[in-house]
Amino acid sequence: MKTVSTVQELRDELASARRSGESIGLVPTMGALHAGHLSLIEAARRQCEVVVVSLFVNPAQFNDAGDLSKYPRDEARDAALAAGAGADLMFAPGVEEVYPAGFATTVSVSALTERLEGASRGRGHFDGVTTVVSKLFNMVMPDVAFFGQKDAQQALVIRRMVRDLNIPVRIEVCPIVRDSDGLALSSRNALLTASEREQATALSRALAVVAEATQAGERDAERLLAPARTELERSGVTTEYLELVSPDTLEPVARVDAEVLALVAARVGTTRLIDNLLIHPVAAAASAVADHDERPL
Ligand code: PAJ
Repeated sequence: MKTVSTVQELRDELASARRSGESIGLVPTMGALHAGHLSLIEAARRQCEVVVVSLFVNPAQFNDAGDLSKYPRDEARDAALAAGAGADLMFAPGVEEVYPAGFATTVSVSALTERLEGASRGRGHFDGVTTVVSKLFNMVMPDVAFFGQKDAQQALVIRRMVRDLNIPVRIEVCPIVRDSDGLALSSRNALLTASEREQATALSRALAVVAEATQAGERDAERLLAPARTELERSGVTTEYLELVSPDTLEPVARVDAEVLALVAARVGTTRLIDNLLIHPVAAAASAVADHDERPL
């Protein structure tokens, strides 16, 4: 695997693959790679002939300068991990390559970006994400780009941007990779102390509480969320939001009658973590259908 840092080198490296019609997969990352990122690279390896991983800690999407400065960085380690997962090329540009002097353009998706992460981190966060991702799409011109369900709202926003701007790329969203205790893998987990690491498991436990109560037949969103909030409070994390929303629009639901997305954001010490879980009210719905089917006419 080769690492390049300029758009010119990137295009030169991809030119012959593109000429011969090979499919190109892109996995955009901010580095500090873990098994979640590697699952995206492996998916790209299975689906595409050429796999490009981008590594760029994008200052434009950080609302907090402290968060940006302490973001874990280790390019040599990332390159070794990406190569091991099957990447062909790593694109690791500097800030001036992505945002040259005089840079003045923003790609901004409205509506979907205004709630949840957009409300907690400020409007600029998703503008930073959509601007850099659209630039990466133009730099790499991939056939397929791979994102994680871990950032569920980000994946929806990118799908919307691609649809609205007719960007010729297919978006693949891959499942959340978790540690054995349920904690969703995140580059920020590296910043947790041992006791914070323990507390952080409250996020996935809270989502599991919502899922279990749904499977037990509860349909009222508030009654589903209350015990999950208690779970978060008990562990001492500071909840920013815990919501049940429509997986397509991210609008809150009052009742769970179809698939819903449970989303949580919380601060564990000074580290901000997010997690989510798609919940299908299937067990109860399936038995309702069975009851109905078995009823004599
Ligand atoms: P980053 O946080 O590095 O994540 C890169 C990709 O890995 C994202 O699509 C994210 O959803 C996915 N990912 C992270 N943790 C995961 C996990 N536990 N399981 C599965 N996938 C996981 O998201 C970004 O970077 C940036 O916003 C970026 C898209 C690169 C734009 O700067």
